[in-house]
Amino acid sequence: MTTDSDVNKRIMLINGANLNLLGSRDPGIYGTETLDDIVDSARNQAEELGLELRHFQSNSEGEIVDAIARSRGNSGGIIVNAGAFSHYSWAIHDALGAFPGPIIELHLSNPGAREEFRTKSVITPVATAVISGLKARGYPLAVRAIAPLMAS
Ligand code: DQA
Repeated sequence: MTTDSDVNKRIMLINGANLNLLGSRDPGIYGTETLDDIVDSARNQAEELGLELRHFQSNSEGEIVDAIARSRGNSGGIIVNAGAFSHYSWAIHDALGAFPGPIIELHLSNPGAREEFRTKSVITPVATAVISGLKARGYPLAVRAIAPLMAS
């Protein structure tokens, strides 16, 4: 049986489009760490705090919407780097809006300092907080940031 206290100790980390290519994709912008490296560092940070971190990556918008819906009642908080979906996916916006816990929107780069199309995020209005521009360091930082926001 899954109890509320189990749920509130579980973070769902979601990575969206093209983040499977980390390490080889524009390393000057996104850094040299691979997705596995980044997930490991986030998971290690979660475990140090006595939390469990689950991870899901997809290049498909619908799969991300489904993963967010599955997080309802299963995870106490969501950390999400939706990649380019951040800039236009109202479906992901709506899915996150229906999630009851804290949400950290995360970006490796600082999209606000890049091309015009990246300066708007449709996820920000439903996020509790945003972390961007710190490359891989943002991931364990997001775990530390969300931990005290999750109900105990
Ligand atoms: C990104 C920024 C987005 O603009 C871009 O489309 C990505 C990655 C980031 O982590 O900096 O794929 O979300």
